[in-house]
Amino acid sequence: MVGPQMTLSGASGARDEQARHEQRQGILQFVVVSNSIVERPSEETLITLIGLKNVFAHQLPRMPREYITRLVLCPKHRSLALVKNKTVIGGICFRMFPRQGFSEIVFCAVSSNEQVKGYGTHLMNHLKDYHIRHGVHTFLTYADEFAIGYFKKQGFRKEVHLAKTNYLGFIKDYEGATLMECQLNSKIPYTELSVVIRHQKEVLKKLIKQQQDSIRRVQPGLTCFKQGVRQIPIGTIPGIWEAGWKPSSNDRVMEVDSSVSDLNTVVKQLHSELTSHSSAWPFQTPVDKAVAPDYYTFIKYPIDLQTIGSKVSMRQYTSLQLFIADVQRMCFNCRSYNDPATEYYQCANVLEAFFMARVREVVGST
Ligand code: ACO
Repeated sequence: MVGPQMTLSGASGARDEQARHEQRQGILQFVVVSNSIVERPSEETLITLIGLKNVFAHQLPRMPREYITRLVLCPKHRSLALVKNKTVIGGICFRMFPRQGFSEIVFCAVSSNEQVKGYGTHLMNHLKDYHIRHGVHTFLTYADEFAIGYFKKQGFRKEVHLAKTNYLGFIKDYEGATLMECQLNSKIPYTELSVVIRHQKEVLKKLIKQQQDSIRRVQPGLTCFKQGVRQIPIGTIPGIWEAGWKPSSNDRVMEVDSSVSDLNTVVKQLHSELTSHSSAWPFQTPVDKAVAPDYYTFIKYPIDLQTIGSKVSMRQYTSLQLFIADVQRMCFNCRSYNDPATEYYQCANVLEAFFMARVREVVGST
């Protein structure tokens, strides 16, 4: 049960914060009391029980007073009393049925001038911790029509999971009231829960801020496109990983640096396959100015297989991406300068398709 009492009351903190603070200061006390026929209860216990009876009688006017008195003073019933400056201001009267695995909440009330201060929440949290210590993990209660909202916020539900055989005949059916159940989680320290959640919230906020700071950082702009590179692997864009980007299987081809074991052997092999391809003839050497006088006016970053070959020999390709970028630029230059109907244009398409397929094979085999 980690539900409703987790509700934090906006900026002012948790609903039970004031109650927790007052308990730390000794203003509030939570005590479990019960009458006994075996030994005479202390005067203090009896005063607390009478105080509880008075609060219940006042706050539950539809309940006969004699009935309240009988149950509060019944030795089989216990009550968790909320005492403020030595006066009982609230409490919960309950009866435990450990063998049936549940406890019945019989009366629950806080004095009208002390309501909506979080005392009811803290009271219920104390009752939960108390039951976990005693090995009982289910509450049942017949909630008044007007108290259903409060019980819901304490984790009670109208759906009862406990087997009927466990509680039928053991608890009294109240007319006009709704049977509600709350299941406890023994791992939760209920009276500390709001503090735990606040700490978790603070940690989460810090983590989110850290991530946001790294996302908001202004990265230096990419300069490679000015140098004629047409395409770069997404993962090399500064800041993209920090922003949470993850490569898809399609991106894998472009993220291969670390997986290609012998880069120079691979680029040499790919270059050799390119030069011997039947569609590579327009790209074997730099474009001859005599054949295409305006070529270098249009194409600012020329590249060809011979130049690429020299770069391979001089081990200038420090990553497969750079090699891929040069081949793609070569094909792009060709398509930019030539008409789509030309053979040159078709060669660029065929050669690039062949090349990218080979790259995928090479990367896939590493
Ligand atoms: N209906 C709907 N919501 C309520 C009610 C209610 N009657 N009473 C309190 N709440 C809400 C509060 O607004 C608060 O919500 P939030 O955290 O979102 O702000 C939350 O429940 C807890 O409030 P607390 O301040 O912790 O509870 P409070 O100290 O006021 O005690 C109680 C609640 C015990 C129900 C009190 O209002 C009371 O004594 N009411 C009269 C008696 C009563 O009806 N008792 C229950 C009868 S059923 C039975 O006894 C089995």
